[in-house]
Amino acid sequence: MRKVIIAGNWKMYKTQAETQEFLQGFLDTITETADDREIVLCVPFTDLATLSRNLHGTRIQVGAQNVHWEEAGAYTGEISPPMLTELNVRYVVIGHSERRQYFGETDATVNLRLKAAQKHGLTPILCVGETKQQRDAGETEALIQQQLEQALVGVDQQRLVIAYEPIWAIGTGDTCESKEANRIIGLIRSQLTNPNVTIQYGGSVKPGNVDEIMAQPEIDGALVGGASLEPQDFARIVNYQ
Ligand code: PGA
Repeated sequence: MRKVIIAGNWKMYKTQAETQEFLQGFLDTITETADDREIVLCVPFTDLATLSRNLHGTRIQVGAQNVHWEEAGAYTGEISPPMLTELNVRYVVIGHSERRQYFGETDATVNLRLKAAQKHGLTPILCVGETKQQRDAGETEALIQQQLEQALVGVDQQRLVIAYEPIWAIGTGDTCESKEANRIIGLIRSQLTNPNVTIQYGGSVKPGNVDEIMAQPEIDGALVGGASLEPQDFARIVNYQ
């Protein structure tokens, strides 16, 4: 059985005060949400402690947006796996396209982060996806195959989430057509050894398109950026029909 996981990715948004405000608006709206849907909030490092404290006893899981592969060391600006697990963090986004594009993340460093996260009991959410240019050049399938091949060396597929995020659909309002997202996610699944890996779609998921996206047979969840910042919008997404 594949688990449904709806995760918010707050990126570099929300102070601790804003996090608390979000929770006030959000927690009441998910009391009716089906139990078999996992809800995760992947937030900036500075919000993790606040979130962890306030979510104790709720069904929402805490996620981070990156993790280093060493347990400690001279790596200014980085955060280690034990620093996350101490705060009850369960999930961590790895290889998001914004990290690849702006911060030099490669398939090799993604692989190191994935293995370190798993070693410490964190469930990584591995992001893969193509640019508009790569799509137009017909390179989507080969690119994703390569991203997976390199990222997944030595990675345990029993504790892994993958998010297919076409880069041209992120933050643009230009969602990937749901049947096409379903097709690519099917391709991703065909490359895995564990057929039960949860594979999400990400890229301009909104209250208005989530029902159609989640109706696709290969799509097991969503990684939601912009629309996860508003409690009402994210609640509608979590409560997709
Ligand atoms: P978006 O971002 O929902 O704002 O398009 C998705 C993501 O980057 O994970």
